[in-house]
Amino acid sequence: MTKPRPELTARREFLIGAGALAGMSLMPLAGCAKSDKLRVGLMLPYTGTYAQLGVAIENGFRLALADQDGKLGGREVEYFKVDDESNPAKATDNANEIITRDKVDVLIGTVHSGVAMGMIKVAREAGTLVLIPNAGANAATGELCSPNIFRTSFSNWQPTHPLGKVMVENGHKKAVFITWNYGAGQQAAESFSEGYTAAGGSVAKQMFVPFPNVEFQALLTEIAAIKPDAVACFFAGGGAVKFVKDYAAAGLKDKIPLYGSGFLTEGVLGAQGEAAEGLLTTLHYADSLDTPQNRAFRTAYLDAYSAQADVYAVQGYDTALLLQKALEQTGGDIGKRDAVIAAMEGAVIDSPRGQWTMSRAHNPIQDFYLRRVENGDNKVVGVAWKALEDPARGCNM
Ligand code: BEZ
Repeated sequence: MTKPRPELTARREFLIGAGALAGMSLMPLAGCAKSDKLRVGLMLPYTGTYAQLGVAIENGFRLALADQDGKLGGREVEYFKVDDESNPAKATDNANEIITRDKVDVLIGTVHSGVAMGMIKVAREAGTLVLIPNAGANAATGELCSPNIFRTSFSNWQPTHPLGKVMVENGHKKAVFITWNYGAGQQAAESFSEGYTAAGGSVAKQMFVPFPNVEFQALLTEIAAIKPDAVACFFAGGGAVKFVKDYAAAGLKDKIPLYGSGFLTEGVLGAQGEAAEGLLTTLHYADSLDTPQNRAFRTAYLDAYSAQADVYAVQGYDTALLLQKALEQTGGDIGKRDAVIAAMEGAVIDSPRGQWTMSRAHNPIQDFYLRRVENGDNKVVGVAWKALEDPARGCNM
């Protein structure tokens, strides 16, 4: 693989897009003519607690294009970027800016589930093709599923579903779940509870911290008093660093085993240091996956960005692979809505995470790995759940 080239982000002429209502499959996708540059919107967090995740997604996306001179479906790409700050209150304005003002052909976004909910509502109205490279909001591929909305990451239901089974198998039958109090955390907690209870465990308490607060002390004191067999959690980015360090500093790490969805230790192991060693998590990726795709990807990523790849980079990379597959089918014409959608629905992605396919609701069907942090790496311990498919509750597509 060659290094990605810096891309132009200038805002140029506005091209008239054909607005299409979600659900009307014969309408063309909103966007511009085939001969122009492909207008790719990136609505991601570049500041705040999830800033690092947004950067990794963009890096992964650009890396996948590097082998094709930065092109997609043979077309040059023009990027339109907005920093969504992981702020749901600004989601509608930000999505409108990039969809209505910049008239992007395809919108890649975002990381935070609450922001994704606002973005999806705008994109469904406009008929814009959206590829979600992280945000797990269940509704995106549940009750708000739509022909023009695809996800290349996971639903919030997925990563914590296998965790309960793993913890019961490890002999932990009474657990506390702790997380941030917003969509992703609430849905992760619910899914954990569902899987853990089905496996024979019982949840002593669910604890919530306002997003993006990192004041954990009072809740850690309460956990020590409850004395569960284990603690499970969802945290990511900067908050995951603080939580793992605080958990160890409170003297809990050696007394009450800490588990999590794998975001807990993604992209942050350097900052977590010794406090993360030995943690067990479940996720659809692991650094040490020993496949040609993953080895090549990690080497190319390190070479291009002087940083270790993580799950967010993989999701960005796979987003580009998926789009490339669709545009190959249409000779680069993103306006051929039915063909683009059909190609993405039928795609088989040979990802660094392992091969995955699209569910009927447009969410990856993929393996979930059990990983352990060893010497600053997320090492695969085994497959916690093979080909896990989100139940897509409420999706009538
Ligand atoms: C979310 O808000 O959906 C999310 C954010 C970071 C990591 C995983 C999920």
